[in-house]
Amino acid sequence: MTYSVNGNTFDAAPNPGQCLRTFLRSLGCHGVKKGCDAGDCGACTVWLDGDPVHSCITPAFRAEGRAVTTIEGLGSPEDMHPMQRQFRDGPGFQCGFCTAGLIMTTVALTDAQRQDLSRALKGNLCRCTGYRAIEDAVHGVAEIEVARPGRVIGTSVGTPAGAEVVTGRAEFTMDTAIDGMLHLKMLRSPHAHARIVSIDKTAALAVPGVHRVYTWEDVPRKRFTTAIHTDHLVDPSDTYILDDMVRFVCQRVVAVLADTVGAAEEGCCKVLRAAEALRDRMLFLAAEHTGVDIASCAMDDTGIVCCDSRVSLSELIEVARGRGIRLTEARKAFGLPRSVVFNTHGFRVAVHRMTGEIRILYSVHATDAGVLINPAQVRGQIEGGVAQGIGFALTENFHVDVNGAMVDPNLRNYRIPAYADIPRTEVLTVDSADSVGAMHSKGIAECCVNPVAPALANALQDATGVRFRALPLTPERIYRRLIPVPVRPEP
Ligand code: FES
Ligand code: FES
Repeated sequence: MTYSVNGNTFDAAPNPGQCLRTFLRSLGCHGVKKGCDAGDCGACTVWLDGDPVHSCITPAFRAEGRAVTTIEGLGSPEDMHPMQRQFRDGPGFQCGFCTAGLIMTTVALTDAQRQDLSRALKGNLCRCTGYRAIEDAVHGVAEIEVARPGRVIGTSVGTPAGAEVVTGRAEFTMDTAIDGMLHLKMLRSPHAHARIVSIDKTAALAVPGVHRVYTWEDVPRKRFTTAIHTDHLVDPSDTYILDDMVRFVCQRVVAVLADTVGAAEEGCCKVLRAAEALRDRMLFLAAEHTGVDIASCAMDDTGIVCCDSRVSLSELIEVARGRGIRLTEARKAFGLPRSVVFNTHGFRVAVHRMTGEIRILYSVHATDAGVLINPAQVRGQIEGGVAQGIGFALTENFHVDVNGAMVDPNLRNYRIPAYADIPRTEVLTVDSADSVGAMHSKGIAECCVNPVAPALANALQDATGVRFRALPLTPERIYRRLIPVPVRPEP
């Protein structure tokens, strides 16, 4: 099969069923990102004969004999496409993971489509920027300034990796390639609560290319914390690298190390899991306690029914304690003095009482972040945080089934905001100096998320007279509460 990628023609035979994204990444085009793997996020966007496609849902064989262009083929750090320059100079990115896909999409737009980005960017999601910096970049608005000697603080200098980000050369963790490198894949728990009694590694180790299979028996029984505070005493050490006690769906269970990602994934699939639900341990305890055969014991929502007897969960914990068995654990944590960033948000909204739809008419955010070292970056953090806050407030929800498994584990159904969902926010910063942070600044990060949902709920109350206390503020939730509310006369 003959392929043409970024002007280079060669013969290749993609693996059966391989998608174009994996095929291109195997050729070293690491600017083609793996985001959702389901056609929702657009991080994998490339051109086929000049038309943007989501390469994760395009079979590699469909590209045979056609011209494939990736972000690497659009321009280089030394010779960028004008749109790549605009994204660099906007800057039109924060982390940059979505950037290559967005650039590939926006370059292919007509002038008319660039005036209607709500529709044109429907297939490209961004989690960090809040989209307005992207809009500005598409229209050539540049905020980046040149630093002058002695005037770096307070100047919006560009990020050092900007040219690499917009040309797809910036290495993210998944792009690292070292000679002899092994790949690690995790097998994760399908159970919300379970005790693993044994794991048979034989089949996984027999997969060609698999080097090691690690389970809880192979890792140190030393707890660590997944929180990222600098002082290890700030957060409790509450997690083992791998544990035989599973507490949530998707908890790490097995690590497979292999020559390739494919071999590591196959190894995970071949691991024979012999997990026994924690429920069985509790049933055993309840059966012993009541003297009833375990076969006659069953668990319901609040306890265990053993024939005519019933052991509540709290009673069972007491029984376990009496026998020296730990079913619960409590730890303490303490913190260090830190700067606090103050944020406030305001919205003006319109609410459609027949559909429950909220439309944000005006959005303003004020932040006290101490001395602003890089104002453009601060603005980006604020806009990105606000966009996340709007997602949490209006659309995003974590639904789990009775087994604790998420029922909407993809971006399409979980519904993180797209361009069309996020209004432009007026960003205000307070002129202040912090006494703790470096150069009198404060760490801003995503703290701007916090006031967004309360501000929306307040605006909604002002508009309807009804106090909403549950998120997200979905049209259905709003509509149901508004049915009995009389229409208020115009002021
Ligand atoms: S990775 Fe292809 S659309 Fe998300
Ligand atoms: S910059 Fe878009 S996802 Fe981070």
